[in-house]
Amino acid sequence: MYLKQFRTGGDRNFGYLIADEASGEALVADPSYSPSLVVDEAREQGFTIRYVFCTHGHHDHVNGNEEIAELTGLQPLLYGSVCPRTGRLVEDGAVFPLGSLDITILHTPGHTEDSICLLAGDAVLTGDTLFVGKIGGTATHEEAAREFRSLHERLMQLDDRVRVFPGHDYGSAPQSTIGQEKKTNPFLLQPDLDSFCDLKKNWAAYKRRHGIV
Ligand SMILES: [Fe+2]
Repeated sequence: MYLKQFRTGGDRNFGYLIADEASGEALVADPSYSPSLVVDEAREQGFTIRYVFCTHGHHDHVNGNEEIAELTGLQPLLYGSVCPRTGRLVEDGAVFPLGSLDITILHTPGHTEDSICLLAGDAVLTGDTLFVGKIGGTATHEEAAREFRSLHERLMQLDDRVRVFPGHDYGSAPQSTIGQEKKTNPFLLQPDLDSFCDLKKNWAAYKRRHGIV
């Protein structure tokens, strides 16, 4: 499997190109500020882009959608969209074929209600649900509770070796693994929802104490 991470601009946003090299079929995720950068790379590699996904509807993840639709002729897909090519609904557990690869949608509400993660082979694109050493922001207790469940009941159920590719370069490295996050991400080390929410509330102080940028 081919996977390339792009620094697309914005607030250290990451976009992605994933391809099944044998068939040359590719998908783009979160092209945001730099659709042509990702599309040019696909062309150079000789890939045919079959899908464009956005991990959620925040402006900094969808602002390139008009441009990438023009460049590829594809309608960008978010949670709840129906893919015109396959007729499949983007919902939890949906599988989108990409050559010999299966792309599985994980619905991971919390940061936003429409947050999805894309599981492709040994990699998962985690959008703004999980960053390296951090997690997505939430505004209410209910959102935090949904995010807690999404993290533990969906993402942390994946194999420890699955590589994690986040939606922003907010951590100490641009990528991680499920196992590494389980062991080191302070939010995932919290034993219950109350301590998870406490850490969210006191995150600025925690960062200062632990020298986290
Ligand atoms: Fe976001």
